[in-house]
This record gives sequence, structure tokens and C-alpha cells, in this order.
Amino acid sequence: MILLWFACTRVTLPVEAPTPARTPVAGTASDDRRSPLPPFSGVDREQARYVGSEVCSACHPDAQAVWAGSGHSGAMNTLAEHKAAYNPDCVRCHSTGFGYPSGYKTTKDATLAAVGCEACHGPGSGHIVAPAPGYGSLGRDGTACVGCHQPDNSPDFSFDAYWASILHDRAAAPPAGG
Ligand code: HEC
Ligand code: HEC
Ligand code: HEC
Ligand code: HEC
Repeated sequence: MILLWFACTRVTLPVEAPTPARTPVAGTASDDRRSPLPPFSGVDREQARYVGSEVCSACHPDAQAVWAGSGHSGAMNTLAEHKAAYNPDCVRCHSTGFGYPSGYKTTKDATLAAVGCEACHGPGSGHIVAPAPGYGSLGRDGTACVGCHQPDNSPDFSFDAYWASILHDRAAAPPAGG
């Protein structure tokens, strides 16, 4: 189970190098304190910046609708309800790009205060100025999920079952050139 009792009083600036967790969080003791990055492709990891899910909605309204109805869009609200919205040990999996230069830092970063599109597909600044197939390709095997859906916090995780409830496939893609 997730431990809820050690909420910090403010967001600590992320550290770049992995550090041992000060407080043992089930399943995360050996992780660093940045968001797990999925194995997205078609993204320049040096240059691309996070832009927020709202930017995607104009061209991918169906994917946006699925996402808005999913737990991912409310993931920071969940932390707030548990008085953990300032705890980096929680925020890193409940937000987008925490610990990276253009990622979520404070509650003022409202557009990144969720497990947004880019938490899975990768930072989208390049794609939105030159939209094309190839950006953020993930595969359908769960490798995009298991950095966050770890056995201790998501014991029932199976890609097929979980993907089925957030499915947003080809029918949701915009027409070419859109
Ligand atoms: C950046 C971390 C992160 C990644 C990557 C991620 N998830 Fe999640 N997921 C979460 C969090 C956090 C929640 C809980 C949200 C809440 O309710 O507050 C969640 C919840 C869910 C839920 C809702 C579970 C329920 O019973 O309510 C589904 C379904 C889901 N994720 C599917 C997936 C799939 C499929 C993938 C991979 C394609 C994935 N997730 C990748 C963090 C992540
Ligand atoms: C390693 C990534 C990770 C970390 C760290 C993490 N969570 Fe989560 N959290 C998840 C995922 C993934 C889910 C969805 C699990 C599922 O439904 O299978 C989740 C679900 C939850 C839920 C249940 C949401 C719901 O309504 O169903 C709560 C509450 C929660 N997390 C609080 C916290 C708190 C508080 C912390 C910090 C102590 C924390 N989480 C740290 C990934 C994480
Ligand atoms: C200006 C319109 C536009 C915006 C904004 C936009 N996209 Fe796209 N996107 C496209 C087009 C066009 C394609 C190619 C369509 C196709 O593959 O049929 C595409 C393809 C994709 C693909 C599929 C890639 C593939 O290889 O099939 C993903 C994933 C994606 N977009 C995610 C996003 C995300 C996430 C955002 C926000 C960060 C976003 N898009 C913003 C137009 C846009
Ligand atoms: C929890 C992880 C996750 C989130 C959040 C997420 N996606 Fe996806 N998305 C996937 C996966 C997995 C696929 C299927 C594998 C692939 O096409 O790479 C996919 C596929 C797509 C595709 C291609 C569909 C096709 O038919 O090829 C588009 C477009 C897309 N997503 C857009 C978005 C947009 C826009 C958002 C936010 C509103 C979003 N996604 C949020 C995981 C996610």
C-alpha cells in the first residue's frame, strides 16, 4: 500500500542525480525523484519541451476526451485530496515531466498538473509545430506504463485491461495534415 503519512510542506526542487529515497515508498526506494519516462520515440530528448495537454486537444479531440474522462487527468487532484500535492515522492508519478527542465514544478503549472498526454508520449514542442506520424510512438506492450504502474502501487496492472479503459487509437487521430 502507499504510505500517506509523510507529506512534505513544500515542493523540494528536483535533484538531477539519483538520490536514495529518504522515506521508503513502496516500490520506489531505488528510483530517482523524477517522473519515469516512457520509451517514447520520435522526440528529441535534448530539445523538446513539455507544452501541456490542452495544446493537443485542438487536433486530437477524441484522444483528449478519453483522457479527460480517465484517472490520469485527475491524478494531481488525488494528491491534493490526500494532502500530498507538495510531496515530490508522490508528484513525480502524478504529474507530467517532474524533475525535467520544462516539466511540472509547482501548482502554478496547471497544464502539467496531471498525468498528461506527454507523460506517455513525451514532450510535444517539436510535434506541435511539425505534426506528423512517428511522434511519441509507444507500442502496445505496457513498457510505457510500468515506470509508474509498479507492482506495489498498481498490483492489478495488466496492459490489456488497463489500456482497454483508456483506449484512444487510430479512430481518434486527426486527418492527415490536420
Ligand atoms: C507518469 C506516470 C504514469 C504513467 C506513465 C501511466 N500511468 Fe496510469 N496512472 C497513473 C496514476 C498516478 C494513476 C492514478 C490516477 C488517479 O486516480 O489519481 C493512474 C491510473 C490509471 C488508470 C485508472 C485505474 C483505475 O482503476 O482507476 C488506468 C486505466 C491507467 N492508469 C492506465 C495506464 C496505461 C495503460 C498506461 C501505459 C500506456 C499508463 N497508465 C501509464 C500514472 C501513470
Ligand atoms: C511509482 C509511481 C507512483 C508514486 C511514487 C506514487 N503513486 Fe500514487 N498511484 C500511482 C499509480 C500508477 C496509481 C494507479 C494504481 C491503479 O489504479 O492500478 C496510483 C494511485 C494512487 C491513489 C488512488 C487513486 C484512486 O482514486 O484510485 C492514491 C490515493 C495515490 N496514488 C496517492 C499517492 C501518494 C499520496 C503518493 C506519495 C506517498 C503516491 N501516490 C506515489 C503511481 C504512483
Ligand atoms: C496542429 C495539429 C496537431 C497538434 C497540436 C498535435 N498533433 Fe499529434 N498529430 C497531428 C497529425 C497531423 C498527426 C499525424 C496523423 C496520423 O498519423 O494520421 C499526429 C500524430 C500524433 C500521434 C501518432 C503518431 C503516429 O506515429 O501515429 C500522437 C501520439 C500524437 N499526435 C500526439 C499528440 C500530442 C500528445 C499532442 C500534444 C502535445 C499533439 N499530438 C498535438 C496533429 C497534431
Ligand atoms: C497513459 C499513457 C497515455 C496517455 C496519458 C495518452 N496516451 Fe496516447 N497513446 C498511448 C498508447 C499506449 C498508444 C498506443 C500505442 C501507440 O500508438 O504508440 C497511444 C496512441 C495515441 C495516438 C495514436 C493513435 C493511433 O491510432 O495510432 C494518438 C494520436 C494519441 N495517443 C494522442 C494522445 C493525446 C492527444 C493524449 C492526451 C489528450 C494522449 N494520447 C494521452 C498512451 C497514452
